[in-house]
Amino acid sequence: MKPILKWAGGKSRLAPQIASAFASNCEGTYYEPFVGSAAVYLHLKAEGRIGRAVLSDANEKLVAVHRAVRDRVEDLLDALASLPTEDWRERYYEVREAYNLGPHAGPEHAARFIWLNRAGFNGLYRENRRGEFNVPCGKYAALRLPDAEHFRAVSALLQDADIRTATFDQVLGAADEGDHVYCDPPYVPLTETACFTGYCSLPFGIDEQKSLALHARKAAMKGAVVVLSNHDLPVVRNELYPPDGGFRHVARPRVARAISRGARGSAPEIVAAIGPLRRDVA
Ligand SMILES: C[S@@+](CC[C@H](N)C(=O)[O-])C[C@H]1O[C@@H](n2cnc3c(N)ncnc32)[C@H](O)[C@@H]1O
Repeated sequence: MKPILKWAGGKSRLAPQIASAFASNCEGTYYEPFVGSAAVYLHLKAEGRIGRAVLSDANEKLVAVHRAVRDRVEDLLDALASLPTEDWRERYYEVREAYNLGPHAGPEHAARFIWLNRAGFNGLYRENRRGEFNVPCGKYAALRLPDAEHFRAVSALLQDADIRTATFDQVLGAADEGDHVYCDPPYVPLTETACFTGYCSLPFGIDEQKSLALHARKAAMKGAVVVLSNHDLPVVRNELYPPDGGFRHVARPRVARAISRGARGSAPEIVAAIGPLRRDVA
């Protein structure tokens, strides 16, 4: 099941490889603390591989979209139907202004967010210092919105999910024996300037990457399985997710980038897994 949103670093194409990093189905709770477009959750849920789930992201306007898709999909479809279609280019900045005025929850918010995601440049989500969405109009030949059946199918898959605004450290402490966790943080940059990290106002530097690796290891020591993806760089392989720290390097896919800043083409990625770890060897 494809996500409704286009999202920088979205894992639609990689979802089957990431799913196979979890050797078994999840008997406990599935956590996805960098949920973005929910590509991996939707894949696992459609395959019947997970039950209870906690989906979270630090971007509260994005989280409000997933909630509206889950709880008010018909109202959302009505709101989307009232937004421009033929004259979408001429009216792009009018919709963007309405979006920025808010409110930033509910079906009208979700409809504008999704419309801007499809009509805006490359599906980017970026805000200025005042917290206003400032992505310019996209250069597409036509505006392509997901159809109603797609919305309803995604809504059905979200029904049992607990969807929260949270930073990763606020949720990972709850992961325990039998739980599965998939972490897809903003990438460690390939070069100092060539990586998109502007999903929300929070910085995500090397300190946050180290803190995430530590949280993953702690969850693994409690008996959870944690899968993480990132750029395949020496610092990621050897320092963040090192084999002698219990991390297994399970896949090295090359991914064609749909959205990035300054780094188009394909980039090497790594999928790592840790846990469950026995406390005596940890
Ligand atoms: C690479 S994207 C995830 C893409 C997602 N796997 C998908 O398929 O669409 C990273 C996500 O992390 C979120 N994020 C950034 N900093 C965060 C933090 N400190 N805690 C939780 N989420 C964060 C961003 O808002 C963004 O949605």
